[in-house]
Amino acid sequence: MFAPGTEGPVGGASAARAVDAPSAVPRGKAGPLLPASGRARILAVANQKGGVGKTTTALSLGAALSRRGKRVLVMDLDPHNCASAHLGLFPENVSRSALDLFLADGVDAACFMGTVVAGQSGFDFVPGHSRLSELDVDLRDRPRRGIILKEALAVVSDRYDFAILDCPPHMGVLLANALVASDLLVIPIQTDFLALHGLRLIFDSIRTLNRVLPRPLAFMALATMYDRRAGACVRVLNLLRRKLGTRIFSTVIGLDTKFREASADGKVIFEVAPDSRGAREYLQLADEILRT
Ligand SMILES: Nc1ncnc2c1ncn2[C@@H]1O[C@H](COP(=O)(O)OP(=O)(O)OP(=O)(O)O)[C@@H](O)[C@H]1O
Ligand SMILES: [Mg+2]
Repeated sequence: MFAPGTEGPVGGASAARAVDAPSAVPRGKAGPLLPASGRARILAVANQKGGVGKTTTALSLGAALSRRGKRVLVMDLDPHNCASAHLGLFPENVSRSALDLFLADGVDAACFMGTVVAGQSGFDFVPGHSRLSELDVDLRDRPRRGIILKEALAVVSDRYDFAILDCPPHMGVLLANALVASDLLVIPIQTDFLALHGLRLIFDSIRTLNRVLPRPLAFMALATMYDRRAGACVRVLNLLRRKLGTRIFSTVIGLDTKFREASADGKVIFEVAPDSRGAREYLQLADEILRT
C-alpha cells in the first residue's frame, strides 16, 4: 500500500509521466475566458479517451446551468449520438441535426434554430447524426473548414449564455471545430491511472492547435467517476492537482449510479434524482464556472 498522495509503482510512475514532463501540460490560461458581454460562452467537453464522462458532463452541466437561470444550448457532435440517445432522441425522430450546420452553404439564425430541439431537459439541444463520421471526407476541399462551427454559433450567440459541445473521442474535423470555437475546453478525466495516458493525446492536440490559433486555448480538467474509498483514485486526484494546479476544477464528480439510471430513462440526473450526490456536484461545477 502507498500513502495517499504518492503515485505508487503499479502503473503510477509511467502514468504520471503523462502529466509529468515539463512540456506535458500545454500553456494557456487556467480559467474560462470571458467572452464579450451579450455573447454565449462556448464550452467544449472533450478528451480523446473514451468513456470518461464527456457526454454525462455536457448534459448534466447544461442542465445545472439552466437550473441556475442560464440560457443553455447543448450540441451533440459525436457521430455515435450518445447525448441524443441519452435524451431519447433517436435518428428516426430527428429531421435536422448538427450535420446540417456543417454541410450548409452558410448558416443564418433561422437555419441554426431549425436544428434545435427546444427546452429539452431545461436546455435547447442540437442532435447529432451518424453521418458526422464522414465529415472529414465531405469537407476535405472546403476552405476554412476549421471554423464552420465557430461561424455557425456566432449567429445564435446572443440567444444563449452558454453553448456546450459534446465532442467525439478522436481528433478530426469535428473536434478541431469544437476546440477552435470554444472559450474553454473542459477535459473530464476519470480518476484512474490508465485515464492519465489519454491526457497526452488531448494535450498534444491543444499544443498543435495553439500553434495556429491567435491565443492559446483555455482549458480546465474535471475529475470524474471519483471513488473516495479507492486509494488509486485518491492518488490520481492528488497527482492531477499537483501537476495541473489551478487548471483543474475544485469540484470533483464522484461515482453515482443515478447517472446510468437517468440515461436509461432518457433524462438528465436532475429529472430522476435531483437530490443525488451527482446532481449536487454538477450544480457545484456550474457555480464554479459562473464565479470565474
Ligand atoms: N460520475 C459517474 N458515476 C457513475 N457513472 C458515470 C459517471 N459519469 C458517467 N458515468 C457513466 O459512464 C458511462 C460513460 O459515460 P459517458 O458516456 O458520459 O462518457 P464519454 O466520455 O462521453 O464516452 P464516449 O467517449 O464513448 O463518448 C455512461 O454509462 C455513464 O452513465
Ligand atoms: Mg460521449
